[in-house]
Amino acid sequence: MARIKEAVKWGILSTAKIGVEKVIPAMLNGEHTIIHAIASRNLKRAEETADLLQIPAAYGSYEELLRDPEIEAVYIPLPNHLHFEWIEKSVRAGKHVLCEKPLVLTSDMVEKLRELERETGKKIGEGFMVLHQKRWDRVREIVQSGSLGKFVTAVSIFSYYLDDKENIRNIPEYGGGGIYDIGCYPTVISRYVLGEEPVRAAAYLQKDPDLGIDRLSSVVLEFPSGPVSFTVSTQMVPFQIFQFFGTEKMIEVQIPFNTPHFRSMSIRVNSGNIYESTKIVESFSPENHYTRQGDAFSRAILYDEPFAGSLDNAEKNLKVLEAIFTSAREGGWITV
Ligand SMILES: NC(=O)c1ccc[n+]([C@@H]2O[C@H](COP(=O)([O-])OP(=O)(O)OC[C@H]3O[C@@H](n4cnc5c(N)ncnc54)[C@H](OP(=O)(O)O)[C@@H]3O)[C@@H](O)[C@H]2O)c1
Repeated sequence: MARIKEAVKWGILSTAKIGVEKVIPAMLNGEHTIIHAIASRNLKRAEETADLLQIPAAYGSYEELLRDPEIEAVYIPLPNHLHFEWIEKSVRAGKHVLCEKPLVLTSDMVEKLRELERETGKKIGEGFMVLHQKRWDRVREIVQSGSLGKFVTAVSIFSYYLDDKENIRNIPEYGGGGIYDIGCYPTVISRYVLGEEPVRAAAYLQKDPDLGIDRLSSVVLEFPSGPVSFTVSTQMVPFQIFQFFGTEKMIEVQIPFNTPHFRSMSIRVNSGNIYESTKIVESFSPENHYTRQGDAFSRAILYDEPFAGSLDNAEKNLKVLEAIFTSAREGGWITV
């Protein structure tokens, strides 16, 4: 374990799957991150998870964890509709907060979070792990440098198959649905890579007639540099890709979102020969974006470094998602 310079003591609100399987094990390897406690609505579940992950303290309610004076920051992987409530309770209890994406459900809630930051002096960040990958920094450099020629367009697919009625993603009142769960990713990445905000959005959206959540969406975002289009689905064969096209070359980013940390990843290029598949141009040694994210937020607390998942970024991303929902409802282009 890489240990430990100056470090922040963290608590975790809930035994969510993403926390237990991915984020906590990754944060345990952080340079500036100590996981001190975990809380669950069920004490036994908290204790079992603490044992499993070797976390020193376990609590049977989120409130108890927030009363622990040793904890400086909390990570919140609760269902989307509970994010705002527990961010507010956490900062009022004197904790900094890293909360899972989507940070909240509407852009006007971000303004309230900004007021809470000002009032409490605590930091609030959004867990968009993809913003902590070296590979995306490099893609951004390549696209913005003009080495593909003039940027023309980008396309992305993000899909999985999940029809379990009990899953939080399939419950509308929990902030379920494909746009909140995965449409936020091609949105945040296209904004990051192009370094621009989309001017307007047009969207097709199909709801599951029984579940009531959006299960398939195809979206066009018009950026000043050109359009980006993506399809996301929660009931399709699992697949992920992002491709950026210039006038001379295209680059392809495979497994762009749930990027594995246990093997090298690459950027692939095609220079215009349609009979050849894309070739690796750059490789990246394995890295864990959740470890990097935890450390980045710890450094934001310790040294006041800027954090990529900022409130400004969350607000801009949510404004795009809102334009997508409005376009799907009313038809046509919606100004972002
Ligand atoms: N960044 C990423 O890679 C990534 C990946 C997946 C998910 N996420 C985000 O992480 C969050 C959690 O997703 P998940 O799939 O891990 O969720 P999950 O496994 O369903 O866990 C959610 C947890 O919230 C707690 N909870 C409190 N009130 C609840 C309620 N009314 N209903 C259900 N659970 C409740 C439960 O923990 P206790 O019983 O222990 O209290 C539960 O285990 C979401 O915001 C999602 O968008 C991010």
